Amino acid sequence: MEQLFSKITKADTYATYVNPQWVKLMDLLEMNVQYEHCTGAELLTKDGRRILDFLSCNCVMNMGHNHPAIIQAVKSELDLRGPTMLPNHVPPMAGLVAEKLCHQAGGKLHRVYFCSSGSEGIESVIKFARAHTKRSGIIHAQGSFHGLTCGALSLMDNHFWKGSFGPFLPDVSTVSFNDLEALETKLAARTAAAFIVEPIQAEAGVRLPQENYLREAQRLCERYGTLFVLDEVQTGMWRCGPFLAAQHYGVEPDMVVLAKALSGGLVPIGAVLMSEKISNSVFGSIERCMIHTSTFSENALGLRAAAASLDVLERERLGEKGRIQGEKLRHKLSGALTGFEMVKEIRGLGMMTGIEFQAPRRFGIKVSFETFKAIHPGMFGQVLVMRLFADHGIIAQICGNNFMVLKITPPLIITDEQIDHFVTSIKTVLRQMHDSDISWADAVGIARRALLSKMF
Ligand SMILES: Cc1ncc(COP(=O)(O)O)c(C=O)c1O
Repeated sequence: MEQLFSKITKADTYATYVNPQWVKLMDLLEMNVQYEHCTGAELLTKDGRRILDFLSCNCVMNMGHNHPAIIQAVKSELDLRGPTMLPNHVPPMAGLVAEKLCHQAGGKLHRVYFCSSGSEGIESVIKFARAHTKRSGIIHAQGSFHGLTCGALSLMDNHFWKGSFGPFLPDVSTVSFNDLEALETKLAARTAAAFIVEPIQAEAGVRLPQENYLREAQRLCERYGTLFVLDEVQTGMWRCGPFLAAQHYGVEPDMVVLAKALSGGLVPIGAVLMSEKISNSVFGSIERCMIHTSTFSENALGLRAAAASLDVLERERLGEKGRIQGEKLRHKLSGALTGFEMVKEIRGLGMMTGIEFQAPRRFGIKVSFETFKAIHPGMFGQVLVMRLFADHGIIAQICGNNFMVLKITPPLIITDEQIDHFVTSIKTVLRQMHDSDISWADAVGIARRALLSKMF
């Protein structure tokens, strides 16, 4: 076992058998370190560094890494030696978790379909919406991120992700986020089965909905017979304060997709919450009771982890704690970063925050900024991420569909001291990037090494 472990921790084995380009990128950004022990918001590396997680694996670790209660639940499920997966069986734990989810969600959401990831949840809502409405069209919002399977990818407009993977689903149309007129024009054709939207577009740059946007969108969907579906894969599970961001914005979706934080980062699981009517349209007879499923749907370990995660988040009141700490974080960031010309806006809800940057106006740094942006549009953000990691031991990430926004999504348990460390660190890095060429030298280094390894 020891021998096997020492072999699997070697990055070169990964590069040989899994993905050499990923290893190259991690090396390039000087982030290719081995983690030994992760608890709460802290990650200990093999060489003794303490790293603070301000990303939470894109909103997976809402309760922090390796929460002891969730680990215990998974261990005891394994010790039971019960039916981990049994096709001819009604698993009581699925009923219990579904009941908890529906109870927390409220509104029209009375039935649950379990799956194993966010993308699979999106694939499911596309099918369910079509079965229920007998229409084929799907409307999505520009800038969205819904996952990288073919159906989910069809609902995204960023060419980077779609590239060579087409053709995609027909009858899909895109509207600008926050544009109700465009939405109504599409809906008025009465061919759309669903409007699928993230309540806050995380990867588009932590884009918040305008006052009334989601409520009006729901009303318009109802008027034209289209289902109003929320992708809460990042925003749900108390990330934005309440259980669902929908509850903050006062909307009642017909379906909601959850995944990521649903099982505390330990076992893959996702869930589609829907109305009884939709569920009946899909699974409405004995003949159709398994018309949509997948092998790991309702597996005992995932469900047990989900039950424990829901318990922890609720019992420790992490939504409320995250909301308070998130407001503190934005308040402190606003105080610390005013005056930096590259900082355009700090925005967010609950424990999801974005810092939007803009091109500098001063000649000296403007030239460096534009030069490196021309090499790769994400260069500015990557330098920032690199410096935060290398000099301050912080993991953060720029948004997948907007390289000018740093997404800050630490676990909901983040402390005042950890927030202070983050704020001081980002202020220091930004000061360096505004005042000197030191940080831009990193960009030169990245560009040189990347060009040498033909990455751009
Ligand atoms: C909003 C949103 N929806 C769907 C997905 C896809 O989830 P998964 O990666 O679990 O397939 C993601 C993944 O990051 C996401 O952020």
